[in-house]
Amino acid sequence: MKILGIETSCDETAAAVVEMHRVAPGAVNSVELLSNVVASSMDLQVKYGGVVPEVAARAQIESIIPVINEALTSAFQGVPLEKAWEQIGGIAVTYGAGLGGSLLVGVLTASTLAVIKNKPLYAINHVEGHIYANFITEASPYLATNYKLPTTAPAFPMLALIVSGGHTQLVFFKNHFDYTLLGQTQDDAIGEAFDKVAKILGLPYPGGPSIGKAAEHGDPHKYLLPKAHMTGKYDFSFSGLKTAVLRLAQLQGGKSYDFPSFKLSGLLNEVQKADIAASFQHTAIETVTDKTVEAVKEFKPKSVVIGGGVASSPELRRQLAERLPFPAEYTDPKLCTDNGAMIATLGCYKAMYNQPQANPYSLGINPNLSM
Ligand code: KG4
Ligand code: ZN
Repeated sequence: MKILGIETSCDETAAAVVEMHRVAPGAVNSVELLSNVVASSMDLQVKYGGVVPEVAARAQIESIIPVINEALTSAFQGVPLEKAWEQIGGIAVTYGAGLGGSLLVGVLTASTLAVIKNKPLYAINHVEGHIYANFITEASPYLATNYKLPTTAPAFPMLALIVSGGHTQLVFFKNHFDYTLLGQTQDDAIGEAFDKVAKILGLPYPGGPSIGKAAEHGDPHKYLLPKAHMTGKYDFSFSGLKTAVLRLAQLQGGKSYDFPSFKLSGLLNEVQKADIAASFQHTAIETVTDKTVEAVKEFKPKSVVIGGGVASSPELRRQLAERLPFPAEYTDPKLCTDNGAMIATLGCYKAMYNQPQANPYSLGINPNLSM
């Protein structure tokens, strides 16, 4: 079965085709990546220092059809579009959580195509989709890009850590579509904290990769930064850490706490910036690693997966490898940030497990959808 996945929840316009190969009845399934196209309005975001919802949605209206067409033709090595469509068994689309205008572009496009092409439609929760990036176990030899993928699909019970620009959550899965949310952030998401700290340090958007790069030259133990203590054992909070970094930057810049954050980076030298970036990254990543390790002890999962943009962080992978009691395999960093392949993969599992299809005439968006 081949599924087309469409993802437009934030600034990216993404489409991909994956194919599920059923190895044997009841056996572990393998999902093969056939194409993966991601267009982003990154140049515009860099200019504005973040995502501007109207700007993102306008760019998505322009790019969605070309992106879908490219995903289809490259999946089937250049066959005409009509022929490619014949081979598609269903369409999966993100309907939440995300920016309203952006989600609408994807949902309306996918619903229209489902009607015109007469294909089953699957409505996908974006956060759940991030987890399913770890279920892609093969890449087509025809793909131009290399992907380093897990060798087998994760085993259940499975613990999932979601660390993105909008979410920070620990979820325990007994099986597909049978899960419990253990905890989540009570304020900022971890990715948001990376983006805000990058802004304070004058580093480019998105903050995750630029902080990671600056941190390479810094001392992660130079400054002691706070980890929040929460009533919910698996809940998170990053707003205190973000404020602590702001105070630290003001102190290092020789200014008081009312000095505006946007003027600070000019007062800090490269060594100070690198040390602050490294200390922040170390603390933020250690916070999520601590709770993941704790949840592994309590719930004894057979596998641990990570998802969301921050899951591409080499520091997160390093700390988990050091502290988890068993080796874990994660998806390629390129499949951690928003993409259509993860959405298509969850669509495959929905089809296989006879999960309800969406009605293309009535499917709406849900910007605040949670797990
Ligand atoms: O999952 P994602 O692409 O979009 C959301 O669903 O939010 O995540 C975006 C977030 C941004 O905050 C970005 O700074 C962060 O992921 N990010 C990273 C890395 N790459 C992206 N954070 C840490 N290290 C990275 N290498
Ligand atoms: Zn995401």
